Amino acid sequence: MQQTLGIDIGGSGIKGALVDLEAGDFASERHRIPTPQPATPKKVAQVVAELANHFGSPSRIGCTFPAIVKNGVTLSAANVDKSWIGENAAQLFSEATGAEVAVVNDADAAGVAEMKYGAGKGQNGVVILTTLGTGIGTAVFNKGVLLPNTELGHLRLTKKTAEEYASDRIRDKEDLDWKDWADRLEKYYRLLEFYFSPDLFIVGGGVSKHHAKFLPHLKLETPIIPAELRNRAGIVGAAWFSEL
Ligand code: BGC
Repeated sequence: MQQTLGIDIGGSGIKGALVDLEAGDFASERHRIPTPQPATPKKVAQVVAELANHFGSPSRIGCTFPAIVKNGVTLSAANVDKSWIGENAAQLFSEATGAEVAVVNDADAAGVAEMKYGAGKGQNGVVILTTLGTGIGTAVFNKGVLLPNTELGHLRLTKKTAEEYASDRIRDKEDLDWKDWADRLEKYYRLLEFYFSPDLFIVGGGVSKHHAKFLPHLKLETPIIPAELRNRAGIVGAAWFSEL
């Protein structure tokens, strides 16, 4: 059985598990270490090394990161420590673990996992996966092929960016009820519909487990369905990228 280590770096936790890429599922228990604060490159690299060690020092690792990641370099820092901008994360983690490490945007990893093994399996048109969490992450596919680093959570809605207006963090912070939040989400998805004419939206992120409370309120032209891999998507997608 082909197994790789996937690691999901988030604002509060850094999680890893061995992944069976044939099944698209975990092949071990998940191990979580709280994200160090401040989450500087050096401290995060130490946690990545600890996770690699925990899982028997594999030679290939895939790692998500909540920012633009191009050729292993982190190029933005909307919700993470600003010292990540311009950091060669792939090199840093490779040096820390002795493994070959692929680093990829968190929403892109989740999107690939859903397209290969979850809600997007067999979907051939234009599919947009959104992760609703601290920020809004997006992954755009055409005929199953990813257009990486789309960052559509930063589109402007009213005077704010979409993630400042409609992320799950804002729902919580402003104590919005599900209907009020759904009204904001509807504006956001309508904007995406206008720009991309998608065939399908997939909604991921932790809050997607409550999809029955907000998705039915959304009036859109495009079908919108919850993600299936939920909090396993980042790790599974990360592992998939490590094999490229
Ligand atoms: C970042 C994206 C990330 C998303 C979800 C946004 O603030 O700019 O790169 O995918 O949050 O974590």
